[in-house]
Amino acid sequence: MQLEGKVAVVTGGSLGIGAGVARRLAAEGAAVALDYYSHRDAADGVAASITAAGGKALVVQADVAQVADVQRLISQAVSRFGRLDILVNNAGVEQPAPFESVTEQQWDHQIAVDLKGAFFAAQAAWRQFVAQGGGGVIINISSVHEELPMVGNSVYCAAKGGLRMLTRTLASEVARHNVRIVNIGPGAIATPINQITLDDPARKAALLSEIPLKRIGTPEDIANAVVWLASDQASYVTGTSLFVDGGLMIYAGSL
Ligand SMILES: NC(=O)c1ccc[n+]([C@@H]2O[C@H](COP(=O)([O-])OP(=O)(O)OC[C@H]3O[C@@H](n4cnc5c(N)ncnc54)[C@H](O)[C@@H]3O)[C@@H](O)[C@H]2O)c1
Repeated sequence: MQLEGKVAVVTGGSLGIGAGVARRLAAEGAAVALDYYSHRDAADGVAASITAAGGKALVVQADVAQVADVQRLISQAVSRFGRLDILVNNAGVEQPAPFESVTEQQWDHQIAVDLKGAFFAAQAAWRQFVAQGGGGVIINISSVHEELPMVGNSVYCAAKGGLRMLTRTLASEVARHNVRIVNIGPGAIATPINQITLDDPARKAALLSEIPLKRIGTPEDIANAVVWLASDQASYVTGTSLFVDGGLMIYAGSL
């Protein structure tokens, strides 16, 4: 096991990628605090599967758009497990809309969850990392859309693009206490966030035509990358993005 004795927090850990990441971190030996926003049953199910497999899990309700909530999430994890080593900023929302129809509420909500939440969770984690003597890893689940424009999805792209610069900027600030920060940029992953595309054969075929490896990714594909980046195997990796996308970025770049 690569993460024995480590403590991890995973935001949005009740569904999709976050649930896969929480299970995989626990399988590698980490104690995992998983946050949920509104799906208590799903979060309890993830925690139950972790404990049934011999792991340690804590379920915390928190809205990552609220700074006080992310601070409480980190402090509850530390209260239960005694320390913090890994933060996975996974929680995210995506509300595609044409530029001209985006409302202030849509802008504020997506930026608050996708960018502000990650910032203040990272800040709370950093304070804990420093208080316990340094070391630690922050992994932001960003998107290929931190780099790849997507027509009709400008707010999401702005939020993920913001995460890209946040990671590159913070990497220098946090390195002095041996803290690393990295982004994972998933391509198309089979989760509830893109269920509409997955349920529509024509849209799914169009998506697959843009993926060199010709398959939709799974939460486990992302979880595998999280484990590596969180482990000492990646101790020289910071301030960058790892795209886990079946080659989607290469194809898009050649258009
Ligand atoms: N699935 C994909 O194809 C894909 C591709 C690129 C990036 N991503 C990113 O991966 C991350 C996970 O997405 P997913 O595909 O698992 O989607 P999902 O909709 O299945 O999961 C999103 C998670 O975020 C949580 N969440 C939403 N608002 C929240 C809030 N205010 N506070 C706390 N939690 C909140 C949800 O409860 C859920 O657990 C997101 O950041 C998303 O942008 C997903």
